[in-house]
Amino acid sequence: MIGNILRALPVVVLTAHSCRAAPTEGKGWHFVQNGTTGIVALESIIVSDTLAVFFDRATDNPLQIDGHPAWGALWNLETNTASPLNVTTDAFCATGSFLSNGTMVSIGGHTPAIPEAKDGRNGLRIWEPCDDPNGEGCGLFEDPETLHMAETRWYATSLRMFDGSIMIIGGMHKKTSFNNDDPTNSIEFFPPKDGGVPRPLDLLERTLPANLYPRSFALPDGKIFMAAANQTIIYDFETNTETRLPDIPNNVRVTNPLDGTATLLPLHPPDYIPEILICGGTNTSDQLPVAELSSQTPASDQCSRMTLTPEGIERGWEIERMLEPRIMPEMILLPNGEIVIISGAQTGYAAISGVKDPVGNNSNADHPAFTPSIYTPDAPLGQRISNAGMPTTDIARIYHSSVTLTPKGNLLLAGSSPNTVVVNGTQYPSEFRAEYLNPPYMTVERPQLSNVPKQIAFNSEFSVDVSVPSRLTQGDLKVALMDLGFSTHGFHSSSRLVFMDAQLSEDGKTLSIKSPPNNRVYPPGPAYIFLTVGDVSSTGVRVMVGNGATPPVEDQGVPI
Ligand SMILES: *[C@@H]1O[C@H](CO)[C@@H](O)[C@H](O)[C@H]1NC(C)=O
Ligand SMILES: *[C@@H]1O[C@H](CO)[C@@H](O)[C@H](O)[C@H]1NC(C)=O
Ligand SMILES: *[C@@H]1O[C@H](CO)[C@@H](O)[C@H](O)[C@H]1NC(C)=O
Ligand SMILES: *[C@@H]1O[C@H](CO)[C@@H](O)[C@H](O)[C@H]1NC(C)=O
Ligand SMILES: *[C@@H]1O[C@H](CO)[C@@H](O)[C@H](O)[C@H]1NC(C)=O
Ligand SMILES: *[C@@H]1O[C@H](CO)[C@@H](O)[C@H](O)[C@H]1NC(C)=O
Ligand SMILES: *[C@@H]1O[C@H](CO)[C@@H](O)[C@H](O)[C@H]1NC(C)=O
Repeated sequence: MIGNILRALPVVVLTAHSCRAAPTEGKGWHFVQNGTTGIVALESIIVSDTLAVFFDRATDNPLQIDGHPAWGALWNLETNTASPLNVTTDAFCATGSFLSNGTMVSIGGHTPAIPEAKDGRNGLRIWEPCDDPNGEGCGLFEDPETLHMAETRWYATSLRMFDGSIMIIGGMHKKTSFNNDDPTNSIEFFPPKDGGVPRPLDLLERTLPANLYPRSFALPDGKIFMAAANQTIIYDFETNTETRLPDIPNNVRVTNPLDGTATLLPLHPPDYIPEILICGGTNTSDQLPVAELSSQTPASDQCSRMTLTPEGIERGWEIERMLEPRIMPEMILLPNGEIVIISGAQTGYAAISGVKDPVGNNSNADHPAFTPSIYTPDAPLGQRISNAGMPTTDIARIYHSSVTLTPKGNLLLAGSSPNTVVVNGTQYPSEFRAEYLNPPYMTVERPQLSNVPKQIAFNSEFSVDVSVPSRLTQGDLKVALMDLGFSTHGFHSSSRLVFMDAQLSEDGKTLSIKSPPNNRVYPPGPAYIFLTVGDVSSTGVRVMVGNGATPPVEDQGVPI
C-alpha cells in the first residue's frame, strides 16, 4: 500500500501561500489570437479535455448548419476550430452546469429571431459526457415538449449543489429593453424538486430591476451565497430561509445590466473557510431610465471581500480598488489560487442599446479594459491587485463575451457583440476572433500528473504519479481541484477551487492526495486536478468526484 509507505515519510504539507517564482524563462504572460468561432461565443463551458461548447442567440451567424445559421458550436482546443452544434431551441443568454453524473445541462434562453430555432425560454439541453476528442457522435439532447423547466427564464443563474442537482435562480420571462421588467423571481431545480413547483425568493423581489444573473455560490456547508444588485444573502436550501448579509458598500450594484463579477475564493483544508470577492459593476442608481444613462459614465473600480463566518460577517465587507473601473469584468481562478481579473469596459453599462449615447453600432459601454490584472488573495490588503508583467490585447471583450480556464491551464477568450444582429465594420463589431491568455507556465517545462484515478471518493486518500522538472524541485507544491465553471455575462456559474492536502514521496515521483471531506465542500461531479510547483502549473486531469450517480445523491464523506 503506497499510502502507508508515504505516511511514514517526511511530510510536505502543501499550503497555498503566495510564492511567485518569477519565471525568467519562457514568454511570460501573453495573448495569442488563433481561430474564429463562427458564432458570438457569449456562453462557454469546457466539456472535455479537448472541447468547449459555445452558445449564442439564434441569429444571422456565419457558421452554418443544415443550411441555416448555427447558434451553438463546439470549439476544439487542439485545432482552434469551431464546428456547428445542432441546437433545437434558442440558447440566448442561458446558463449551464454539470450534474453529479457528469452530464452538462444548458438552461433557459429566449424566443428566436430566426424560424429554424424554437422558443428556448424554459429550455433544458442535455450534453452527455463525450469521450471522442473531436466530439464525433456527441451532441445535445432536447425534447422541448416533455423536457423543460417549470418557468420561462432568460438571464438565470445555475449552480451545482451538494446533492449533485442544479439550482436555477431568477431570470426574466421575455424581452425587456434594459432592466428586468418581467421577472421570474423564483428558484427551481433540475432534476425537479418540490414536485416541480418553483420557490419564491425574496432577494429577487427586493433587488428589481437590475438583478439578472444573480452571482451565486455553493458554500462548503451546503448553503448558497447570492448577490443581486447591492444586496447579499445566504440561502439555506434545506430550511428554505434567507439570511441577509451586509449590502455591498457604496451603492455598488453587480448584477445585469449593471454587471460586476464575483468569485468564491479558493477553499483551503482543514477548515474550508469561505470568502467571497465581488469586483466592478457600477454605483449608478438602478431607478434611472436607461435613456438618461451614458456610455461614458465611469464604472466601479471597487472590489468587496467578506469572510462568511459569524466574525467575518460582523466585520463586513473589506474594500480594495482595481487598477481601473470595470463594468462586465470577469474573474478566473488559476490553479495556483491567484485570480485573473480580465475583460469588460471602463465606462457605461451592459446590454444592447438604450443609453443616450451608444458607441459603434449599439454598445452601452465604452473604453474596453484591455489589460488584465492578477489578484493575490493572501497578499496584504492594498497589495493584492497588480498588472505587472501582464500583456495588453486590442480585442474588446465587452457585452456578450466569455472567458474560461481550459484544461491546458490557459484562458480562452471569445465573443463580444453589443449588437442585435451580426454587425461588422463598426467599433465593437460582432467579434468572432478567439484568443488565449497564456500564463508564463505555458511556455516552460511543466510538472505532469499521470495515473490519476478516473473517479475519487470524498474523504479518501489516492495516489498519482508526478514528474516535476528538476529546476522546480525546491518549489512550493499546491494541488487544486477545480470546476472551471460556465461563463457568461461576467459570471462563472459553479466555478470553484478546493485545495487538497498532499504529500510527495521522497523520490519525488508519487503524490498522495487527500480528497475533499464531503460533497458540500466540493459539490459532486466533474473536476480538474492541477498540480502547481513553484508557480508552474501542470495541465489539468479530469476526474469524477463522488459516486458519479444521477442526482439527487446522498451526503458522502465526513462533516467538517
Ligand atoms: C493556431 O493553432 C493551430 C492549431 O493548434 C496551430 O497549428 C497554429 O500554429 C496556431 N497559430 C498560432 C499563430 O499560434
Ligand atoms: C439537427 O437536428 C434536427 C432535428 O432533430 C435534424 O432534423 C437534423 O438532421 C440535425 N442536423 C444535423 C446536422 O445533425
Ligand atoms: C443599496 O441600495 C439601496 C437602494 O438603492 C440603498 O437604499 C442602500 O443604501 C444601498 N446600500 C449601500 C450599502 O449602499
Ligand atoms: C459613484 O461614485 C462616484 C465616485 O466615487 C461618486 O462621485 C458618485 O457620487 C457616486 N454615485 C452614486 C450614485 O453613488
Ligand atoms: C446597427 O446595425 C444594424 C444592422 O447592420 C442596423 O440595422 C442598425 O441601423 C445599426 N444601428 C446603429 C445605431 O448604427
Ligand atoms: C469584418 O470585416 C473585416 C474587415 O473588413 C474582415 O477582415 C472580417 O473578415 C469581417 N468579419 C466578418 C465576420 O465578416
Ligand atoms: C444524468 O442525469 C440526468 C438527469 O436525470 C440524465 O438526463 C442524464 O442522462 C444522466 N447522465 C448520465 C451519464 O447518466
